[in-house]
Amino acid sequence: MNALVLGLQWGDEGKGKAIDYLARDFDVVIRYQGGHNAGHTVYPSGQKVVLHLLPSGIFSPQTASLIGNGVVVDPLRLREEIAAVKKLGFPLGQLVLSDAAPLILPFHQELDIIFEESRYQKIGTTRRGIGPAYEDLTGRRALFVRDLLTRERFSRRVGLLNDYYNRLIGAFGGRLLRVEDYLEEYVAAGEFLRPYVENTVYLLDRYRREGKRILFEGAQGTLLDVSFGTYPYVTSSHPTVSGALCGTGLSAKAIDRVVGITKAYATRVGEGPFPSELFDRSGERLREIGNEFGATTGRPRRVGWLDLVALRYALMVNGADAMFMTKLDVLDDFAEIKVAVAYDCAGVTTDRFDPDPEILQNVRPVYRIFKGWREATGRARSFAELPPSARVYLKFIEEQTLVPVEYVSVGTLREQTIRR
Ligand code: IMP
Repeated sequence: MNALVLGLQWGDEGKGKAIDYLARDFDVVIRYQGGHNAGHTVYPSGQKVVLHLLPSGIFSPQTASLIGNGVVVDPLRLREEIAAVKKLGFPLGQLVLSDAAPLILPFHQELDIIFEESRYQKIGTTRRGIGPAYEDLTGRRALFVRDLLTRERFSRRVGLLNDYYNRLIGAFGGRLLRVEDYLEEYVAAGEFLRPYVENTVYLLDRYRREGKRILFEGAQGTLLDVSFGTYPYVTSSHPTVSGALCGTGLSAKAIDRVVGITKAYATRVGEGPFPSELFDRSGERLREIGNEFGATTGRPRRVGWLDLVALRYALMVNGADAMFMTKLDVLDDFAEIKVAVAYDCAGVTTDRFDPDPEILQNVRPVYRIFKGWREATGRARSFAELPPSARVYLKFIEEQTLVPVEYVSVGTLREQTIRR
């Protein structure tokens, strides 16, 4: 049984914790899109670790961890992350990096900053070069992990691309880059990564034929998908089911089950519409209690109530079979909890999520208000142990979405997870 685990909101749903918990039932975990813009926070044996590129299954020693061809890889950052995790005492013997993953190179980061600061585009990106690297992939200019493994090949290709982008960077008055300033560092990172590099398409096919259980790990979230999200306020990859196919080489038939992760409320980082966003004291409390600050950039996250219009849309485009709800405990102290059930769009009530920002930023959420439970949930280990009002809240979400909430997380630790 293979499963795909992905975010149903704007990222930061707590996928790290969910995947770390679920990974124990799988033999293989593969990341399929995004890059080190992601920040998956996990607490293996209680200590906090933020992963950016390594799959969240990395801490289960019996699990093979793969970085698929859909992930954009900054070789310097990956080397750093591998070294840091090894230092914590995790051997990473079963890590495999796709030879066909596109590289993030110094000019990509430079371009990301230029676009962000120009008047043409302000997305609030993580400034890691993610968008420009994916642009190179579809623009048929990308360099791949395999290019990094041969000095001559890498230096020839990166030289041409560096020259190409210097013209653009120069036109915007940016910092011109010289290949000789970074070549050796990248070649050395390639040498460091070489033992991990393999053709993951054939490897996965072998795993599948051997009956190994595969978990596909999404990064970011459905509403940041370049095709289904609130474009242009999105990331440049496909955090949805579609990304898992072109980011791994496995067929749609290899996905038996889709588990969507949602927080018990909502957050967003960067620009873009967010109908249920809160600007009042409740918002501040959600941010404080939920510690809603970016795992990658440290930016304070925008916060709001759970939005069922958006959630139903995300469940629909992914065909999700089940939900994993995280951070229910963050709502423990609220006297009142709201959930958006519909939008008021210029006087007309609708249950449709139109990702067009011109429309979405003008809708007003229609809320259903719930009485809070005002009781700590962190020790609950079964659905029955949750306070009655919390059960009402969860059941309402299931009724509204027609998708079961199979897992509920009530704290950062692995054992603070209820499986129904
Ligand atoms: P980029 O992925 O760096 O290009 O950023 C594009 C948008 O996606 C920005 O709004 C970012 O804040 C958002 N974003 C990218 N990665 C994550 C993530 O892991 N969690 C939440 N938001 C993200």
